[in-house]
Amino acid sequence: MEDIYRTHLATNCNEDLLHQSVLLNGWVQQYRNLGGVIFIDLRDRSGIIQVVISEANENNNLYKKAALLRCEYVIAVKGVLVKRAPQAINPDLPTGRWEIIASDLKILNEADPSPIPIKDDLDVAESVRLQYRYLDLRRPKMQRYLKNRHKVLQITRNFLSHADFMEVETPLLTKSTPEGARDFLVPSRKQKNSFYALPQSPQLFKQLLMIGGFEQYFQISRCFRDEDLRSDRQPEFTQLDIEASFMGETNFLKLIESLVQKVFKEILEIDLITPFQRYTYQESLAIFGTDAPDLRFELPITDFTQNLATSSFVMFATNIASGGVIKGINLPKAAVWSRKKLDDINKLAKELGATKGLLWISFKSDQPSGPLVKHLSESELKKLKELAKVNEGDLLIIVSEQDAIATPLLGKLRLIFAEKLDLVKTDQFKLAWITDFPLLSYQPEENRYDSMHHPFTAPNPADVHLLYTDPLAVRAKAYDLVLNGTEIAGGSLRINKQAIQQQIFKLLGFSTADLKKQFGFFLEAFRFGTPPHLGIAFGLDRWLMYLNGCTSIRDSIAFPKTERGTCLLTDAPSNVTANQLAELGLKI
Ligand code: AMO
Repeated sequence: MEDIYRTHLATNCNEDLLHQSVLLNGWVQQYRNLGGVIFIDLRDRSGIIQVVISEANENNNLYKKAALLRCEYVIAVKGVLVKRAPQAINPDLPTGRWEIIASDLKILNEADPSPIPIKDDLDVAESVRLQYRYLDLRRPKMQRYLKNRHKVLQITRNFLSHADFMEVETPLLTKSTPEGARDFLVPSRKQKNSFYALPQSPQLFKQLLMIGGFEQYFQISRCFRDEDLRSDRQPEFTQLDIEASFMGETNFLKLIESLVQKVFKEILEIDLITPFQRYTYQESLAIFGTDAPDLRFELPITDFTQNLATSSFVMFATNIASGGVIKGINLPKAAVWSRKKLDDINKLAKELGATKGLLWISFKSDQPSGPLVKHLSESELKKLKELAKVNEGDLLIIVSEQDAIATPLLGKLRLIFAEKLDLVKTDQFKLAWITDFPLLSYQPEENRYDSMHHPFTAPNPADVHLLYTDPLAVRAKAYDLVLNGTEIAGGSLRINKQAIQQQIFKLLGFSTADLKKQFGFFLEAFRFGTPPHLGIAFGLDRWLMYLNGCTSIRDSIAFPKTERGTCLLTDAPSNVTANQLAELGLKI
């Protein structure tokens, strides 16, 4: 074979190329020697095609060479594309109606047996997949996941460029950006005892770019957060980061919805309906018990507190008198649940923070039953039934607790109930904006406030005066985008007045000296004509989990870290030499 490099990809081989000569490159996916004929499945980045090598073909020692092949050998094959015999057609393969009758073969490289089968359905520990990630990446699923990642990046770049946004890169060796996690620090060799921080987000720089007059910016930006990892969190992840000046919230969110719509259409061929649903933070907590609701099923929370305010049931009366609430969820057709199942759920509720047991009323028949029934009057029962829209056959679960316990507890139980009742429409994608978050939360141990988003989030103009009197009552001009119960993006209008920014930092507990040291450059910039601006950042890896239909963020990333923050392929983080430490002026 003079020229070893390909003329076509495996999946280019179709009707148009019948009886033509092709030269393919790739790996041996499968190898079957039937004695006299060898079948090879050749795999390249496009897919697989069958190659047939017959002993009858005496060209170039072809059969002898083919007999040496093993899985994952790298080969070049020359041959003619023909139709397979009808009984040999493989309907599962896009190229299953054709095969290549080889006339020449070159082994470009040999391969040791792979520790991972190169196929989609694996029974291999994830640690092995991560250790041999380059082999794991050969699997069709991983190729597809990363192709989707590439596509989302392309769509975003094209969409935003088309909308007159400009891509600008911001530094990775920088100063701390307060997004609520710990920083990863990088020691400076030239400035002894000084450290860079890797950015938790490009927040400060994108705002400085607005002050710098770019007006419409985006960046595919790597972010670093040293926080506890979960199945949807990585220490190093990618944001689609966007910021705009002189644009109102309505137009901005419309633009973002169009981007999301485009991605869903092009990746999954799904038409999302816009505008997306909207809930204020308070509404979302009240109905779903969380600020990241899964809307693929209903199961709303009902608040019975007002209607039971005069109840003679001591448990309810004392709870309400001490400021508590009585809330519940109606479970359609769950009246048949066994006592054992309810006991298990009760146990679970305690693990999830319930201080008292769950209560329930079963509406199996016209006559409600359950431990609560004898404590409630006829009219109270009727009211509960009416408020929670109970039908015959339903089970009403009730919690009597302080609201700080009841709401998150019901939020978590709602998800568990939906699974148990098989109510989650797993083929759906439900998006919603959550708005009007409180600007601040309170940290009693440290006697200071914390930003719910980050310190640059603008307060609702109607609440600005409360910054000085009742900070916890201030609503933020912030919005999160939630997909199937996970926050995939978050953003806000920004503060553009120095005095307000300074007041926020004061509430966050910064001394004047600390503030000057950490954010002096930023506050100074505010003096030179800061435009009104707003922005958002998507967690690309997290969004992709949903687009790819995976449950782990690691499948969205070519070379991810484990939940312990390690890379099993390179063994990072690892020790460094005494010399390296000495150069940095560090001692361990
Ligand atoms: P926020 O902190 O909400 O906002 O981050 C934006 C989005 O990034 C994703 N995300 C993560 N993904 C994977 N691993 C992590 N450890 C991780 N942390 C966050 C989430 C989240 O919605 N500067 C602001 C944005 C802005 O205001 O414009 C910011 O970073 O999907």
